[in-house]
Amino acid sequence: MSQPKVLVARRIFPEVVGRLRECFEVDWYDENEPLSPEQLRRRLAGKQGIFASGTEQITADLLDACPDLKAVCLMTVGYNNVDLAACTARGVKVSNAPDVLTETTADFGFALMMAAARRISESEHFLRRGDWQQWRVDLFAGADIHASTLGILGMGRIGQAIAKRGALGFGMQVIYHNRSRLSPEQEAPLGARWVSKDELLAQADHLILVLPYTPESHHIIGAPELALMKRTATLTNIARGGVVDEDALAQALGEGRLAAAGLDVFEGEPQVNPRLLALNNVVLTPHIASASVPTRRAMCNLAADNLIAVLTGGVMKTGLNGG
Ligand code: 8YV
Repeated sequence: MSQPKVLVARRIFPEVVGRLRECFEVDWYDENEPLSPEQLRRRLAGKQGIFASGTEQITADLLDACPDLKAVCLMTVGYNNVDLAACTARGVKVSNAPDVLTETTADFGFALMMAAARRISESEHFLRRGDWQQWRVDLFAGADIHASTLGILGMGRIGQAIAKRGALGFGMQVIYHNRSRLSPEQEAPLGARWVSKDELLAQADHLILVLPYTPESHHIIGAPELALMKRTATLTNIARGGVVDEDALAQALGEGRLAAAGLDVFEGEPQVNPRLLALNNVVLTPHIASASVPTRRAMCNLAADNLIAVLTGGVMKTGLNGG
């Protein structure tokens, strides 16, 4: 019997491709430059599965052009690049990669928040430029993390892991807003309190965005929301760029209506809004929150596990539509 055909749409760890090759006829696009939609359509035609990242757009049109497709396995936890309803309607199974990246991503979110609050990037650039002439009492004085109020928008696995760091490691008061509330048993050890979105914005000293990107969360933080925040507050985004109106954020940061921001994700990434690039009080990183070596390996292996399971008659570990 011939083996199922799969496309690996990205450069990933060769040993993971090796695992896939034991089960499938693998077409490996071994490049970092993403396939264009047209290239993706051509390479996926006639294949049963795809190993994808967060950048390949899996649209209804693509699915119609690739009627043999049975499985879309993502190495990412976010799946806003996949039209899940269109996949389900066509019987295409989809999986993402939750859990394996939770702690690593929470570590990074915390680091970015701290870097913004304590002005780490800005002060390093100052030092490297040779501008450090003397000690000053207010030199890069920023905001405290410990004992401050941590606001979390989106209280899924990663949000809860950040809350744990804040509450138990730094003595922060944790408030959060989410469509669904945590159970009292989940809230209690974190001292976490559900609040309305407006209350979250008004009370947080450090607001971190960890919610999924959907049509409803598009620009969920825009000018009206930023206007509710404290002037001394920081905003950190490790979700998706599209949850923030970047022009409104740049305006608020530039006018000193918000102290600082830490951004790992951008609406037009890898392009970054030039208004953000021009500001000192924003820490910018290239979508690397989940990028520790062991975690990136685990993400790839989980996607491979799912692809192997679903195309060999098994059940995906982390299917999104009943795989
Ligand atoms: C990925 C992420 O690295 O898992 C996610 O949803 O945002 C990151 O872990 C990114 O999506 C790669 O495109």
